[in-house]
Amino acid sequence: MTRKSCVVTGGAGFIGSHLVERLLNEGHRVTVIDNFSTGRPENLAHLGKNPALKLVQADIAEHAKMAPLFKGAQWVFHLAALADIVPSIERPTDYFRANVVGTESVLEAARAANAQRFIYAASSSCYGIPDRFPTSETADIRPQYPYALTKRLGEELVLHWGQVYGMPVVSTRFFNVYGPRSRTSGTYGAVFGVFLAQKLAGSPYTVVGDGKQTRDFTYVSDVADALVTAAASNASGEIFNVGSGNTYSVNRLVELLGGPVTYIPKRPGEPDCTFADTAKINRALGWKPKVSFEDGVKKMLENIDYWRQAPVWTPQSIEKATKAWFEFLEPAKTS
Ligand SMILES: NC(=O)c1ccc[n+]([C@@H]2O[C@H](COP(=O)([O-])OP(=O)(O)OC[C@H]3O[C@@H](n4cnc5c(N)ncnc54)[C@H](O)[C@@H]3O)[C@@H](O)[C@H]2O)c1
Repeated sequence: MTRKSCVVTGGAGFIGSHLVERLLNEGHRVTVIDNFSTGRPENLAHLGKNPALKLVQADIAEHAKMAPLFKGAQWVFHLAALADIVPSIERPTDYFRANVVGTESVLEAARAANAQRFIYAASSSCYGIPDRFPTSETADIRPQYPYALTKRLGEELVLHWGQVYGMPVVSTRFFNVYGPRSRTSGTYGAVFGVFLAQKLAGSPYTVVGDGKQTRDFTYVSDVADALVTAAASNASGEIFNVGSGNTYSVNRLVELLGGPVTYIPKRPGEPDCTFADTAKINRALGWKPKVSFEDGVKKMLENIDYWRQAPVWTPQSIEKATKAWFEFLEPAKTS
């Protein structure tokens, strides 16, 4: 593969940092644009001082400051976003600015730079509570909270720029991504960070509902692989699910991690199952996930020290932190 000039927005975040590592390993040049709102430079520290990597602190919604950084960009990976559920319910304007205004700004910067490929990190949360599993790209769009809506609006923008301006765009819809450096920001979020911090503290895992709900846990290196595969392909104007090819219960995760459990109430707006139908990406791009759930969890446990800084959630602190979730989403469930 020829050496490409890449821009990775959100490259100091969880998934972004793995993508940057992968691109550098393949000999590409990478400019990371990140405002460090949830990401941090330390997520890239293990890459050392690499002349092929440029890390710039900038806000994607501040177009005039950010756009010049795209000069010469051939591949653009747009991962920067605010990505937590509860804060999106509490602060929708911030989410709209980062995920919608920010995406338009990145698209325009990429268009001005005449980028060859534009790959967008979309979210399976657009499916809401789907009717069918595994869920294919043609399923109904049913966002349940502002994070899901803003990511979907971003995806619409990306596809529209492909349609109107002929930009070669691909939208990849991630399911539940996990792996080293997964977000540990102060907000209550993805189950892995919550459970690993609880394991380190010797506290019980806070299992939602009866733990029988299942998630399509996808290992982060498989996601980075899908992003690079999409960039290297000729696909354009397409949406691809990116998932593990399976779905695993929260109880199975607890079994693999080992330790005591406590139960907290099920939340409105959350599906009992997430499960990607990955036939399309397999057929069109030949992409397949490589890391099994058991191996992925093993790798997380090998890196468990990363979560020493993460908050240790208890049923009480979770109840407080998820108040908006119950307050705003409950009526929608019963209507
Ligand atoms: N983690 C998952 O399971 C998952 C699932 C579906 C989709 N996604 C999408 O993948 C992408 C990466 O998610 P992640 O899990 O790595 O989260 P993350 O929070 O670790 O990464 C997002 C990065 O974007 C940066 N950012 C946020 N707003 C910005 C702004 N205005 N300007 C510049 N940088 C900004 C943050 O500082 C952070 O480094 C996001 O677009 C997210 O919506 C993630």
